[in-house]
Amino acid sequence: MSSRALRRANRATASEIADAIPSTTLHEGITFSCKVSTGPRLSAVEREDVWQIFEDNMKGLYVNSVFGWDPPAKRDEMFHPLARYVLLHRPHSEHDDDSDGQDMNGRRSLVAYAGFRFEDEEGENVLYCYELQVSKSEQGHGLGKFLMQQVFTIGRWWQMEKVMLTVLKANTAARNFYESQGSPAFESHVKSFQESGEPGQSKTCGETADSGGDAWEDEEDVVDCDYEILSKAITSG
Ligand SMILES: CC(C)(COP(=O)(O)OP(=O)(O)OC[C@H]1O[C@@H](n2cnc3c(N)ncnc32)[C@H](O)[C@@H]1OP(=O)(O)O)[C@@H](O)C(=O)NCCC(=O)NCCS
Repeated sequence: MSSRALRRANRATASEIADAIPSTTLHEGITFSCKVSTGPRLSAVEREDVWQIFEDNMKGLYVNSVFGWDPPAKRDEMFHPLARYVLLHRPHSEHDDDSDGQDMNGRRSLVAYAGFRFEDEEGENVLYCYELQVSKSEQGHGLGKFLMQQVFTIGRWWQMEKVMLTVLKANTAARNFYESQGSPAFESHVKSFQESGEPGQSKTCGETADSGGDAWEDEEDVVDCDYEILSKAITSG
């Protein structure tokens, strides 16, 4: 059942969500701009960029997973009306820095993003992180950590109780990254999803109760699940 806080969070506009986080972030001398958008409001160019980073990073892992590689279903999930994004853009040059990193055609380069939804998970208000993607050339410079911090800040601001996400067990780099993310650590959620969802319907960093047909199952009943659900409480500090 949807609580008041959850309804409020889902009604928030992109600019209201953006109020909780900085509009830029400085990493190794480069100022990246941070933008918040909803899935449906991403421009065609932004959608293509979001998709491209996702495909570059994840296709190999998806193909070999229970989810399979199903671009139409994945795009529906990524650009769902309840999807929210924090997008990090790199300016094309120093000169572009003041104009939000746009080049002469108005195009900025997307380098990383977090995609999430505010959801009810068994009576708890959670920020479910569906995607955390840093383009290959920008990995290892602190952008993933920065995005994860913003995810927690947004969750706290909108009174969510936890951050949850799904990670493929074969994605050891991401699992190591989540393990490195401070104390208390992300923990394995006590329950796992049955492998009964439609292939490609739910995925990388997330699976939702509203994606249809997903059933919770006690962990001991799940055999050979190739992904794991992690959660971490959002503390008040
Ligand atoms: C996983 C990912 C989001 C991490 O983002 P990143 O920008 O590369 O990571 P950061 O530079 O912010 O690293 C933050 C911390 O995690 C640690 N870390 C990052 N990748 C790591 C790895 N492969 N192994 C161990 N530690 C790692 C860093 O050492 C750093 O530690 P510190 O906080 O002590 O300095 C990014 O590499 C990525 O997009 N990978 C491909 C897509 C993906 O798998 N997404 C997750 C899907 S669930």
